[in-house]
Amino acid sequence: MLLTLIELIFVTYCLVYLIGFLILDCDFWLAFLELFGNNIGHLKGQVVWITGASSGIGEGLAKALTRYGVRVAISARRVEELERVQRECLVGSKLLSENDILIVPMDITKIHTHQECLNRVLAHFGTLDILVNNAGRSQRAIWQDIELEVDRQMFELNVFGPVSLTRLAVKYFLQKGTGHVAVTSSIAGVIPAPYSATYTGTKHAINGYYGSLRIEKMDTKITVSILCPGPVHTNFLSESFTTRPGEVLEQSTSSTDNRMTADRCGYLCGIALANKVTEAWMAKFPVLPITYAFVYWPNFCKLVIKCVGPKTFLKLRDSKDTLSTNNAAR
Ligand SMILES: NC(=O)c1ccc[n+]([C@@H]2O[C@H](COP(=O)([O-])OP(=O)(O)OC[C@H]3O[C@@H](n4cnc5c(N)ncnc54)[C@H](OP(=O)(O)O)[C@@H]3O)[C@@H](O)[C@H]2O)c1
Repeated sequence: MLLTLIELIFVTYCLVYLIGFLILDCDFWLAFLELFGNNIGHLKGQVVWITGASSGIGEGLAKALTRYGVRVAISARRVEELERVQRECLVGSKLLSENDILIVPMDITKIHTHQECLNRVLAHFGTLDILVNNAGRSQRAIWQDIELEVDRQMFELNVFGPVSLTRLAVKYFLQKGTGHVAVTSSIAGVIPAPYSATYTGTKHAINGYYGSLRIEKMDTKITVSILCPGPVHTNFLSESFTTRPGEVLEQSTSSTDNRMTADRCGYLCGIALANKVTEAWMAKFPVLPITYAFVYWPNFCKLVIKCVGPKTFLKLRDSKDTLSTNNAAR
């Protein structure tokens, strides 16, 4: 009798995971929170500063937040694109006026400008509640061809930029007594992505850095979210670093690729912020179950990689061999 009950629980457990892996586009906890946790309206009236908001996931997040009356500061280098995002946010939000969406042009790698940018946000809104470090670029490259200068530039952009801005924000949050820091990492920050060594390095650094910060500040009201998207439809591939400084991949995603939309990813990031989730994974099948498998059965996964080879991973990630027309040809 007891054995039958244990068997039944085990089978149900396996079935829930199997079905979840097929239908979910985020980890189980985030999916639960989307249904039963705080919705984005929980943040209404708060001020969120999003870097990298001129396109992609940052734009999707700005739209999701403003729809629920959250005030935002949006940053990036392309001011015309920020103005477009501001206009589109205003069209989608009945709760905000132009004054509630502040454009703060910023190159995240110019660290000496960070304090001035933070001051602009504080002078305009009088407060800051959440900083979302989202600006960043990816990479497609064969490891031995990567020039050290590319490693340097990617770490400047994906790691030192966010870390510098976070230092200033956390200093302010500590004075204020409360605040939330989020960072857009990647599934490549959870499991290693072949043909993206520098990018994987930057995102693992982010997960380690912000994981450490989160634990260190546990006894304060400073909280940290690490947001880890899988493949998303954005400008990401065209802007990806390759092996040489100044070179970009110049490839686009196609509508048939197995990626989630930037709006959906932005919305899920909003749910993660509203619930102060410590780490969120946002990816469709098969990337979601692969991530679970890597984290919970690493040895089994090592065997599988040996059998299927690294190029299979590239194809799963990009829905095609993105290296065949670029670096691999050299
Ligand atoms: N798309 C994916 O599949 C995917 C998967 C996992 C993680 N991510 C992460 O998601 C984040 C956003 O990427 P995305 O996919 O939304 O790509 P995206 O559409 O290319 O957006 C990148 C954003 O970063 C900004 N940016 C780039 N360099 C900058 C700089 N030096 N200073 C300030 N802003 C800069 C860009 O704005 P400007 O060019 O106007 O400056 C843009 O707003 C990145 O951190 C990325 O690692 C993306």
